[in-house]
Amino acid sequence: MSELLASRLAPVKPSASAWVSQAARKLRQEGKDIIDLGLGEPDFATPAHIIDAAHKAALDGQTKYPPNDGTAELKRAVQTKFKRDNNLDFSANEILISNGAKQVIFNALMATLEPQSQVLLCAPYFGQYQDMVAVVGGQSLSLRCEKENDFLLSPKALEDVINADTKWLILNSPSNPAGATYSKQQLQALGRVLEKHRHVLVMADEIYEHILFDDQEFTSFASANPQLRERTLVVNGVSKAYAMTGWRIGFGAGPAALIGAMNTVQSQISSGACSIAQAAAAEALSGPQDCVKDFCRAFQSRRDLVVEAINAIPGLELKTPRGAFYAFVACDDLIGSYTPDGQHISNDIQFTEYLLNEAGIAAVPGSAYGISPFFRLSTATSETVLTTAMARIEAAVAKLKR
Ligand SMILES: Cc1ncc(COP(=O)(O)O)c(C=O)c1O
Repeated sequence: MSELLASRLAPVKPSASAWVSQAARKLRQEGKDIIDLGLGEPDFATPAHIIDAAHKAALDGQTKYPPNDGTAELKRAVQTKFKRDNNLDFSANEILISNGAKQVIFNALMATLEPQSQVLLCAPYFGQYQDMVAVVGGQSLSLRCEKENDFLLSPKALEDVINADTKWLILNSPSNPAGATYSKQQLQALGRVLEKHRHVLVMADEIYEHILFDDQEFTSFASANPQLRERTLVVNGVSKAYAMTGWRIGFGAGPAALIGAMNTVQSQISSGACSIAQAAAAEALSGPQDCVKDFCRAFQSRRDLVVEAINAIPGLELKTPRGAFYAFVACDDLIGSYTPDGQHISNDIQFTEYLLNEAGIAAVPGSAYGISPFFRLSTATSETVLTTAMARIEAAVAKLKR
C-alpha cells in the first residue's frame, strides 16, 4: 500500500507528543503507574459560562452550516478581543475562523507555498509547523535559537538567512516548547529586518498570549510593527487561554487578500468551524475574563515548582520559561551515560525512553522540536502530580552511571 501514498507525506511523522502519550497509555493499560507530561493542554475544565453559551446556541437552533469564514457573532468578538488586548483594528474580511489555530496555519501555508518556497522556523519550534510545510509541499528551514540567547531569534540570524525563496517567518511568542517571549523592542528589531525584504510574510502565532509570567506585558507582532501590516498574519485561538482545546476554534487576522485565499482553502477542506463551538468561543472572548488570569496564576506557580526542582537535579538545566505551560529541559550532561542495566544513552530520544520505562514519566524529546539534547515536560497538571513527577525524575537520573 505504501507505494500508493503521496510522496510528500514521506517526511511527515505523527505528532511526537501524541506518540509519547500513546506509548504512556499503552504502559498504563499494562498496569504501569505512568504520569503523562507529554500532551500540551490545560488540565482545567472549560468555564461554565462558556459551556452555557454553547448549550443555548444549540437550543436556539444554531445547528445549520455556519458561514465558511466564521459567524458574524464570533467575528465581532474577535474584533473586540484584538482591540481590547492588542489595540489592533481588523475588519470582518480580515478575519478567518477555523478549526483550531492549527487549521489557520495550514490554510495559510496551503494558500501561499510553492514547491521551492521556504518557511523559516525558530528552533525549538512547535513540531507541527515543519510537518504542515511538508504536507503542503514547501521547504522548511530551521534556525537554531540557543538556550544562551533565551531561545530567541536574533535580527542578524534572520538577516543572514533570508533569500529569494523565503516566503514566511513563523514567530511564536510565548513559545512552545521553550516558553520564550519577545519584548516589543525585540519584535521591532526583527520587524526592521523584514521591512527590507518585501517578499517575506510573517506568521505571528500568539496562541499562548495570555499565559505570560512575571508581569510581562504582551505585545502582538502586529501592533509592534504596523508598517508590516500588509505582510503579517496573526494566529490565535481559544484552546489554551480558555481551556478549550476540544472545541477546536482558532482565528487568523491579516490582509484581506490572504484571508480570502485561506478561506478558499478552508472551503475545500472542512467548511466553517462548528457553529456551537463558535458560539462558545464568542462568549469566551467577550464574556468575563477572570478565568484567564486565574489559569495563568496557576501555571506560573507550577512553573516555579518545576524550575526549582529540575535545576536541583545534577545533570539537568531548565532556563526559566517566561510563558506557556512547558518546561524545556537541557540534558546534555546525561548524554553518554549508562542506565542501571547497561544501556548507553546517546541522545534525547533514548533519554525520554529511559524516563518512561524507569520513572514512568512521559516526556517528549527535544528532537521533535528541532533541537537536541533536550526534553519537554508539560506543566499543565496539578502541583501534587508535578511534585511526584519531579521526585521520580530525580531518582531516575541519580541511577545513571556517567
Ligand atoms: C505553538 C502552537 N500553535 C498552535 C497550536 C494549535 O492550537 P489549536 O489547538 O488551537 O489548534 C498549538 C497547540 O499545541 C501550539 O502549541
